[in-house]
Amino acid sequence: MSDLALLGGPPARNPRPWPRWPQYDERTETSVLDALHSRRWAVSWPATGRPARERQFAEDFARYNGVPYCVCVDHGSSALVVALEALDIGPGDEVIVPVMTWVAPVTAVLRVGALPVVVDADPETGCVTAEHIRAALSERTKAVVVVHLACTVADLDAIQQVVAEAGIDLIEDCAQAHGAEWRGRKVGTFGTLGAFSFQVGKVLACGEGGAVITSDPALYRRAQQLRADSRLYVDGDVPDGGLELAEAGEIMGGNYCLSELAAALLIDQLPRLDAQHAHRAKMSAELEAGLAELGSFGPIPLPEGATRRSVYEYGIRFRPGTFGSAPVTRVADAVSAELGMALWPPDLPLHRSVMLHPHTKKRFAQIWTEQGRTRALGRDYPGAETYRDTTLIFHHQALLGDSSDMADMVAAVAKVRDHWQQLC
Ligand SMILES: Cc1ncc(COP(=O)(O)O)c(C=O)c1O
Repeated sequence: MSDLALLGGPPARNPRPWPRWPQYDERTETSVLDALHSRRWAVSWPATGRPARERQFAEDFARYNGVPYCVCVDHGSSALVVALEALDIGPGDEVIVPVMTWVAPVTAVLRVGALPVVVDADPETGCVTAEHIRAALSERTKAVVVVHLACTVADLDAIQQVVAEAGIDLIEDCAQAHGAEWRGRKVGTFGTLGAFSFQVGKVLACGEGGAVITSDPALYRRAQQLRADSRLYVDGDVPDGGLELAEAGEIMGGNYCLSELAAALLIDQLPRLDAQHAHRAKMSAELEAGLAELGSFGPIPLPEGATRRSVYEYGIRFRPGTFGSAPVTRVADAVSAELGMALWPPDLPLHRSVMLHPHTKKRFAQIWTEQGRTRALGRDYPGAETYRDTTLIFHHQALLGDSSDMADMVAAVAKVRDHWQQLC
């Protein structure tokens, strides 16, 4: 009998808990209870002696990123919709989107009535490249949504250049990259707009939430209205019992407002983010040193211009054949069983995912005609396939552990590799 835990053998790690996520303490409880007791559970409700918490957090998060403006929204998905609508993208337009991502960037483009043109990924990082973008441009292209995936950053120098040459807008989807930096500057500030998610698994979390950042005052004004049914913040102090949002109607909006209870969580969580990043960086360095000794393994690389990693999902890359002919799904299951912690391959590239089935919704089917579908997906995706087949992913909470946790991961990977190597 094999000694793999997956097949009934003893696990590489003595069963003990991994760090949990999200993290909170008494300060978090105080922040949320204050919002609860204020009875002001929404920005649209009368003020109670202080600015809305979603407005306060928007200012904090703008400062964190080094931009003048931030608008909070209820989801990262809404942030993308608001960003696209702020740029007046709609029917007849095309937006270039990555094949290797959660489905939200593609859905957002469909939700504004435009056609998503799905392009391949770099096989090492899973991110779109300038070449993929250039090859997909057409006269209808209005923007590109770049996702800084998992624990890396897309090559912003090259992407900014192609975007400038084409005269289109760049939207950075930073749902997986809060606090990552490119040449010392926060990601999300290189595009016309940056979009973030604060869904519970993200490194900055409040359950469900999101934000859009920008340096453009006109786009800020539009984004405010797009997320609050055409309303803007009023100027000056809001008296007790007064309303903080006033009808402006310069652009038709929807309601994507972030709840005050969620904002209270974010106000508590943001000051913790950089210390958590620093701890994850220390632990991932130890993990990388251990894996390097095994050979055949490495982290998802950072391009040369990336000066700070933000780990949402950590990716271990391995050379093809490292686990014999075992598929990555089986390898992930085996390492998970050794560790008592979930590892998985990256999500299926969207051209193979059931999450991308626009024909199942009447509104999207009008865009996803035979012609639309061919334009959207009519290319090959070898980079994405390679990335998926040779990457093991795990959630960032494990990197909030200690050195012995990292040693367990190295031991588990080595054990599973040796098992399949012996079978070759
Ligand atoms: C890259 C990316 N964009 C957008 C989203 C959507 O964010 P939300 O779940 O807050 O709508 C996600 C969520 O995982 C994501 O990973």
